Amino acid sequence: MSKKIRVCQIGLGRTGKEISKVLLQQDDIELVMGVCSENSPKIGKDLGEILNTRDTNIIVDSCSNLEENISKYKPDVAIDFSSPEATVRNAEILGKMKVSIVVGTTGFNEIQTKKLMSIAKNNNIGIVHAPNITLGVNVLMVLSNLAASILESYDCTITEAHFKGKKDAPSGTAKKIANEILKGMNIHNDIDVHSLDYNDIPIHAIRAGGIIGKHKVILAGEHDKIEIIHESFSRTAFALGALKAVRFVHKKAGFFTMNDVLNLRHVISRYLEREAHFRKQRFFNTEVPKDQLSI
Ligand SMILES: NC(=O)c1ccc[n+]([C@@H]2O[C@H](COP(=O)([O-])OP(=O)(O)OC[C@H]3O[C@@H](n4cnc5c(N)ncnc54)[C@H](OP(=O)(O)O)[C@@H]3O)[C@@H](O)[C@H]2O)c1
Repeated sequence: MSKKIRVCQIGLGRTGKEISKVLLQQDDIELVMGVCSENSPKIGKDLGEILNTRDTNIIVDSCSNLEENISKYKPDVAIDFSSPEATVRNAEILGKMKVSIVVGTTGFNEIQTKKLMSIAKNNNIGIVHAPNITLGVNVLMVLSNLAASILESYDCTITEAHFKGKKDAPSGTAKKIANEILKGMNIHNDIDVHSLDYNDIPIHAIRAGGIIGKHKVILAGEHDKIEIIHESFSRTAFALGALKAVRFVHKKAGFFTMNDVLNLRHVISRYLEREAHFRKQRFFNTEVPKDQLSI
């Protein structure tokens, strides 16, 4: 059997805990580290106690001992779901120690995102930047892009809803969907993607109760409308996306997105190839049997 991928989970909040539970169930992955913030009450506890599961023999430690613990437990990949400042700080250490990273944290400013890119480049490690880690929401983005490119004159609006305490509003995912819509709307224009401003698409953010995550795109014309909705029922959806990203980035160098992980470009080109194939089939099967010619 091939060697297991050794994983370090950074950030043991709502999402990090769910990811840890799923990581502990994988045959090809070994969770070797759990990392919390500097003054967290989680320091020194068995990860199992934090997850409400059996003991794991993984003792949670502070991010201030990250370098030392990486030398000791030798993870191949780290998953970070903490805060933007913490993620950038941790990434500097992970890069130096040649550990690839799946970044699930959202809310980075432009400078922080560039910093992550340069950490990947300068240290020759892999970073998956995944502000939208579920498969479903990535499909929603592709569909929104396609719909906006076809329904050019329609008005597009995004609504997103998350739990009360979510720090960033609008969500990173909603901004990314807005960019996809703008890319779709400008399909015939020669544009610089960096010039796209997500503020051009209205986004309504709702923060209420325990809503895990919902994004809705409305494309409304004068006479009809389309709605594309993605809703996460549980944080397991995030964990499954993180797993895919870990397997993808292991032993790779570069700065990637979930589009690379899920290979959606390949799916779309395959769809177009098959449509062309069926069209050709229909065209060459147009011969009508002689006895039916008079019908
Ligand atoms: N990409 C996606 O699809 C997706 C999905 C869900 C959430 N997110 C993002 O992931 C992040 C976390 O979300 P969440 O809902 O899990 O938030 P949360 O419940 O607040 O958890 C964040 C955790 O990070 C820990 N932390 C803070 N600083 C740290 C550091 N320096 N090193 C290690 N851990 C540190 C925090 O505290 P303690 O260690 O002190 O306990 C806390 O447990 C947010 O940015 C959120 O928007 C992204």
